[in-house]
Amino acid sequence: MAQTWTPNSWRQKPIQQVPDYPDLAALEAVETRLAKYPPLVFAGEARRLKTALANVAEGRGFLLQGGDCAESFAEHGADTIRDFFRAFLQMAVVLTFGAQQPVVKVGRIAGQFAKPRSSGVEKQGDVTLPSYRGDIINGIEFTEEARVPNPERQVMAYRQSAATLNLLRAFAMGGYANLENVHQWMLGFVKDSPQAERYRKLADRISETMDFMKAIGITSENHPSLRETDFFTSHEALLLGYEQALTRVDSTSGDWYATSGHMIWIGDRTRQPDHAHVEYCRGIKNPLGLKCGPSLTADGLLELIDLLNPANEAGRLTLICRFGHDKVAEHLPRLIRAVEREGKKVVWSCDPMHGNTITLNNYKTRPFERILSEVESFFQIHRAEGTHPGGIHIEMTGNDVTECTGGARALSGDDLADRYHTHCDPRLNADQALELAFLLAERMKGGRDEKKMVVNG
Ligand code: TRP
Ligand code: MN
Repeated sequence: MAQTWTPNSWRQKPIQQVPDYPDLAALEAVETRLAKYPPLVFAGEARRLKTALANVAEGRGFLLQGGDCAESFAEHGADTIRDFFRAFLQMAVVLTFGAQQPVVKVGRIAGQFAKPRSSGVEKQGDVTLPSYRGDIINGIEFTEEARVPNPERQVMAYRQSAATLNLLRAFAMGGYANLENVHQWMLGFVKDSPQAERYRKLADRISETMDFMKAIGITSENHPSLRETDFFTSHEALLLGYEQALTRVDSTSGDWYATSGHMIWIGDRTRQPDHAHVEYCRGIKNPLGLKCGPSLTADGLLELIDLLNPANEAGRLTLICRFGHDKVAEHLPRLIRAVEREGKKVVWSCDPMHGNTITLNNYKTRPFERILSEVESFFQIHRAEGTHPGGIHIEMTGNDVTECTGGARALSGDDLADRYHTHCDPRLNADQALELAFLLAERMKGGRDEKKMVVNG
């Protein structure tokens, strides 16, 4: 069945979640234009990410992946990007300390524009319109004009991705990501948190480590690694015409790469092994993510692993598990056991967002306790199975939104109306995201102490 792959071989396969473009000639014209635009990322960077993820697969690192559910054209701006990056880096520092391992930093950003929908239409009162599918396809406003898929939006998404990536590269390499800055921001967060008492212990230990390093002469002036960081981009590879237009041959290796982002993933709704999305992804060499939900069987997973990673290369495939806080114990162990039995090399990552969405006061929301609970179960299950809980995948923003309930500030259902800005799913705000990092770091440290006790006793 392994037929030859080409960047457009997916077009011969059945496909889910395709927008209904009224003008196919206009769509083709845009795709032809995009195919001539410069790549957004380089093959060498994607390989570097794969190497970092290979370490995670082998138990020597932790993956932090996060960002918007869906980026939007309206909210594009320097402040939004900066605030996201600032919150994300603080999480990374806390998790690096908690895990005592390198944290691989991957944003859901600079390309996360297309959304799979459970229904092709949306009904409000007696008006039925096509569903919103993300800014790269149509507009969120509930009007007939906005909801018509417009190919020109792909060019906008490309340009916004390029601008976002440009700023992120400057932040990552130009001094903004300096560990000393990030440490100061983190102390500011702790001081203002209602849970300051609890987070201070860990924060103090990080401060002591920083002081010690300074005392022995390790500073950001003489160690570039203290002021720079590797930051990668990722998104769901849903709109395959756009992905194809940005698929390029790498001149050094002769291999095909998606150049729309460093890592791309396949959604839980588009992972049919004989369909278009799996076909496209199997032929490019980037690191891939695969969303795993409750309907995925162990055999189904093994079939997908063979298609997507036939050489069993560590770092190629990240399994992003999204079961729900009350279902993770039922589904995760059987998948882990099948993967272990067959000796497959994967990164296990936990998406505690998508299985924990509820409706409260007419808002889609996610209770912080359930998010935390799914991650905790994920860690416990991996500990019991003897496998590495390799990462988390979250929807978050650097802004002070009110979209998920709970957390140290105890956001309630009544608070949701205050600043509910998401274009799609509810995101953790900056404080909630950092709290999650602190609570996980505490537990990672606890897990290590337990292991030491077993070894020593
Ligand atoms: N370069 C290291 C790393 O990326 C240390 C580092 C520098 C860092 N700035 C950072 C870590 C910001 C986390 C956040 O891991
Ligand atoms: Mn989402």
